[in-house]
Amino acid sequence: MASLSPASPPALAALGERLRQQPARWLVTGSAGFIGSHLVESLLRLDQTVVGLDNFATGHRSNIEEVRALVAPGQWLRHRFIEADIGDLDACREACRGVDFVLHQAALGSVPRSLANPVATNAANVDGFLNMLLAARDAGVQRFVYAASSSTYGDHPALPKVEEQIGRPLSPYAVSKLVNELYAEVFARCYGFPSIGLRYFNVFGSRQDPEGAYAAVIPRWTRAMLLGEAVTINGDGETSRDFCFVENAVQANLLAATVADPAAVNQVYNVAVDDRTSLNRLFEILRDALCQFRAEVSALRPVYGDFRPGDVRHSQADISKARRLLGYFPGHRIEEGVREAMPWYVSRFSVTEGVY
Ligand SMILES: NC(=O)c1ccc[n+]([C@@H]2O[C@H](COP(=O)([O-])OP(=O)(O)OC[C@H]3O[C@@H](n4cnc5c(N)ncnc54)[C@H](O)[C@@H]3O)[C@@H](O)[C@H]2O)c1
Repeated sequence: MASLSPASPPALAALGERLRQQPARWLVTGSAGFIGSHLVESLLRLDQTVVGLDNFATGHRSNIEEVRALVAPGQWLRHRFIEADIGDLDACREACRGVDFVLHQAALGSVPRSLANPVATNAANVDGFLNMLLAARDAGVQRFVYAASSSTYGDHPALPKVEEQIGRPLSPYAVSKLVNELYAEVFARCYGFPSIGLRYFNVFGSRQDPEGAYAAVIPRWTRAMLLGEAVTINGDGETSRDFCFVENAVQANLLAATVADPAAVNQVYNVAVDDRTSLNRLFEILRDALCQFRAEVSALRPVYGDFRPGDVRHSQADISKARRLLGYFPGHRIEEGVREAMPWYVSRFSVTEGVY
């Protein structure tokens, strides 16, 4: 993924051209992770200079190696990787040196992980975030774009979700992401430091980790289907989410980093599709996409378990603010994104695991 396709909206294609002509220096934290590695890939394809930072808490060296294989050798020469923890302020300062734009993705994701270990989530997501904000401010970074989260909507019942209406947080993870927004706002107010928060809604795509207890639903189910294991739906399957293909999230980051309109800066934006897919429907979409690779998958049926604590029932984003102020135009709906992502999972589980 990640090159700007001919179908990219005109604003994005023009941005790609502008960046190619005037390359900038970017720092992507969490660059060995899922979204971070896609950002690095896209930026290198646009001939940008990219510093990546990660401590491999949940990311993988293989993601970085995969990016290396996907970009041209000359583009890879513009990449430098720093293995460091964002808990280390000196390392954050070193990473921010000479950087124009920061795309801050490093954090411990997952609501259940945060319920099991809120201290670890707070250390990475709050202390680490503050270090990055401070380091970026002191280095004179032009703009700090950070991964916020739809979990910030908490118990607010409104659908679709609009940026100004949030409820009470439902997990330590949600608290950490809300605190990110508050710190960014305060840094704008007290120091005039420009930032933009992107509230991602269930991003998915290749390189999203399918392993472990805290894997997200799409990679977890895809893995289970490919290995012939049971897929468990938490609850009745009518829980719904606004699933967002990673290419849409990459687009939002590039637009947020470079938007010139002052009214668009020091804001938070929903990053999703404005669509709602139930877990029952998601099961069918994945099964249909995987059938083409493994006919046996068509016979699979889900099993139903308990609802998961801390989960919100429905989630759907109003994306009109991002459309209006950033020119965001999500090019992929869930079915298209799933079609693009599945070959990566299929090849991963045929090569390493020998299934069926
Ligand atoms: N994937 C989603 O659906 C989603 C939704 C909402 C928000 N987000 C946010 O987007 C960002 C990226 O998420 P992702 O899905 O790519 O997850 P990921 O786990 O694949 O990537 C996060 C990366 O951050 C790194 N990291 C964690 N703690 C670190 C630390 N202390 N120092 C340095 N690096 C550290 C991890 O090793 C990993 O490579 C996160 O901030 C996450 O909270 C993701």
